[in-house]
Amino acid sequence: MSDNITILGIESSCDDTSAAVIRDGILLSNVIASQSVHEEYGGVVPELASRAHQQNIVPVVKAALDRAGVDKHELSAIAFTRGPGLLGSLLVGTSFAKGLSLGLRCPIVDVNHLHGHVLSHFIRRKADDAVPEYPFLTLLISGGNSQLVLVKNYNDMTILGATIDDAAGEAFDKCAKVMGLPYPGGPHIDRLAQEGDPKKFKFAKPHIPNLDYSFSGLKTSFLYTLRDALKTDPEFIEKNRADLAASLQRTIIDILLDKLDKAVKQTGVKTVAIGGGVSANSGVRQAIADYCDRHGLRAFIPERAFTTDNAAMVAIAGYFKYLDKQFCGYDEVPFARVQI
Ligand code: KG4
Repeated sequence: MSDNITILGIESSCDDTSAAVIRDGILLSNVIASQSVHEEYGGVVPELASRAHQQNIVPVVKAALDRAGVDKHELSAIAFTRGPGLLGSLLVGTSFAKGLSLGLRCPIVDVNHLHGHVLSHFIRRKADDAVPEYPFLTLLISGGNSQLVLVKNYNDMTILGATIDDAAGEAFDKCAKVMGLPYPGGPHIDRLAQEGDPKKFKFAKPHIPNLDYSFSGLKTSFLYTLRDALKTDPEFIEKNRADLAASLQRTIIDILLDKLDKAVKQTGVKTVAIGGGVSANSGVRQAIADYCDRHGLRAFIPERAFTTDNAAMVAIAGYFKYLDKQFCGYDEVPFARVQI
């Protein structure tokens, strides 16, 4: 039976302006406006990001409501990303959510962006879509995070391990930059890797205790391999592009899987999920599916649309908080940094 709980989600933590509508847990729309303005700078420029959010937010929210076939007066609550992220970007979504909620007299719900990534597996397109059973383990891998999270409930998550230096996405992006590939380099490495030999080059893997990650040694080892080879062959990168990408991607996957395997054994979970921008990587997706197959585990691999920043994950996280009546006050402010 339908309760008609309708949540508008708003995401503006970095360089994607997104709005989504979820009714009773089912996704009705998810609109994302990406910002191409950053491409020529080789990374996200915070000031330009917040200006673009200002331009995008009204048309994006309108498009999400229109596509969902929902009138704004039907909204039960507005969920928005409160952090972590770029403060100027977060302020746009937060202020918009507050203004709209005051106008409509409906409550606001604040969402931790990282919770959104973890909970993206609960976004359903139809009522009988499968969702994970608690507890499950999430490998959260993005440009800013590499974490192993034990998820006991929608509001009960424990970080079992995290990167002590670079995130997996940074390893992709920084190595891609050394190869002369555009930003963000992750998708380019992914594409090139499909034609390369993953065993051609060997790069350093970290030896750190517990469930933490480290990618800075790999980055240095990649850089030194290229620097040394270029001394004798100036066309080394050009000639080995695909093999370099495949070997780099293989090493990152090995590092990720090594700690994931330890975490699975420590916790005894039966379900493994991935989330965050790097979970769009074809090699990572295949490796997780194969690992779960081999170990008799259930794998949850998100639709590609839900790997990068999107408001559908904010709306579903907001929906769970709404059911628990966990609303946010108008005096609450965004957080640039916040843990899961
Ligand atoms: O989660 P996300 O969109 O943003 C935050 O970091 O919050 O993740 C972006 C990261 C970038 O480092 C990007 O290179 C990486 O995700 N990424 C990929 C792929 N698609 C995005 N890395 C490897 N392969 C991909 N296909």
